[in-house]
Amino acid sequence: MHTFASSISKVFYGTLIHSLSIKEIEYIRQGLLFIDDEGKIAKLVKNVPEDRVEAELEGVDEDRVVRLNDDQFIIPGFIDTHIHAPQYTFCGNGHDLPLLEWLDTYTFPRESKFADKEYAHKLYTKSVARSLRNGTTSACWFATIHLDACKELVNIIQEQGQRAYVGKVNMNQNSPDFLIETTESSVRDTRAFIEYVNKTNAQLNHKPLITPIITPRFAISCTSDLLTELGKLAKEYNLPIQSHLCENMNEIGFTMSLFPQSVNYTAVYADHGLLNDRTIMAHCVHMKDEELDLMKEKNAGISHCANSNFNLKSGMADVRKMINKDIKVGLGTDVAGGYSPSILEALRASRSCSVARNADTTLLVTELFYLATMGGARVMELQDTIGNFQIGKEFDAILVNTSADNSPVDVFDHDSIETKFEKYLFVGDDRNNEKIYVQGKEVRLPDSKVASHK
Ligand code: GUN
Ligand code: FE
Repeated sequence: MHTFASSISKVFYGTLIHSLSIKEIEYIRQGLLFIDDEGKIAKLVKNVPEDRVEAELEGVDEDRVVRLNDDQFIIPGFIDTHIHAPQYTFCGNGHDLPLLEWLDTYTFPRESKFADKEYAHKLYTKSVARSLRNGTTSACWFATIHLDACKELVNIIQEQGQRAYVGKVNMNQNSPDFLIETTESSVRDTRAFIEYVNKTNAQLNHKPLITPIITPRFAISCTSDLLTELGKLAKEYNLPIQSHLCENMNEIGFTMSLFPQSVNYTAVYADHGLLNDRTIMAHCVHMKDEELDLMKEKNAGISHCANSNFNLKSGMADVRKMINKDIKVGLGTDVAGGYSPSILEALRASRSCSVARNADTTLLVTELFYLATMGGARVMELQDTIGNFQIGKEFDAILVNTSADNSPVDVFDHDSIETKFEKYLFVGDDRNNEKIYVQGKEVRLPDSKVASHK
């Protein structure tokens, strides 16, 4: 008993809500959740009446116990399976153009500024803090092509304490002169970036939270040679891979003109060794059945970015079909194609998208919450590490308070916990995220003065 208690770093007492499967949310009342000093969930006791708590907590210091009130509950942290760190600078702007014109007009000029490391430091500090504040405890980040700025992003994520996949973007064709690499420099800098993250991780006294991810921007901006080299790097270092796929009809047409030897867009990535169980493809709006089948065959995951797909008028992905085919799906904000860095907004846009596609097969709350948490964990191939409160997983979580100061949610006496939870999903925002935990530790965000760039 004593040794067990002494390795316990925190205990939560109150309501816990998590996904057991895509069909089932579990509401644990009067739960006691024990976190060990490695940030793992050591023990979970359900339905503990007040008068039994003392006995259950024997040997645990009182200052390690967090007691929730009736308006508070704990949920797994959100997982953003697709977000562009440099694009936060124009989040909320520039929705007048479709994808390829949007990239040329807004995105590429702004990303080129990250050649400046100081600028990158200021902007990335803000970008990561905003993501974390919104409850994203794990994110799959696209940076830019610039090696120094990519290292800055890693340092900032490390400092702020988010779990992340971070990608140095690769672009060696069909890109403006001010944002392009040669094949050689692209491969060399990617290798240097991977080595940098590995070296940084080796110096930590805890299990690393950051993993480098191979990030060809999309097939249009990479030659066949470069894609092949990136496929080899992914294999050599055993790394995840992320890119964009079937987002927009003009993009698909241009891609097929560049890679006529591949049978379809999805096959372009497969043909270059870039489609496997650690691959995350954003969008997948206009997929042929055989492309979805190829995703399934390779066990690759999809990041559904509905907010972005509406803003850039890309179309509406058929998530119901993906779920029916048992393809891994998670949610992505796709800042700044998406105007919000919040996965709650991604969840709401996903619901609207499903309703607009087919009112008979609308995504249910149970499914949406699963996509925002467990679905994302599966897409990242981290389903054994995060996503819900299974014993042995690491504790990444949000302590939600539906009656926090300035809460956009109003709760009433007769509201059940299920009602409060649903209100948070559809009306709540970061003001309700009272505390955020990653790997069992509370995240301390930099104060807004440090994070702001004037
Ligand atoms: N396709 C290639 N690059 C991008 C990007 O930055 N955002 C989106 N939404 N799609 C892309
Ligand atoms: Fe994107």
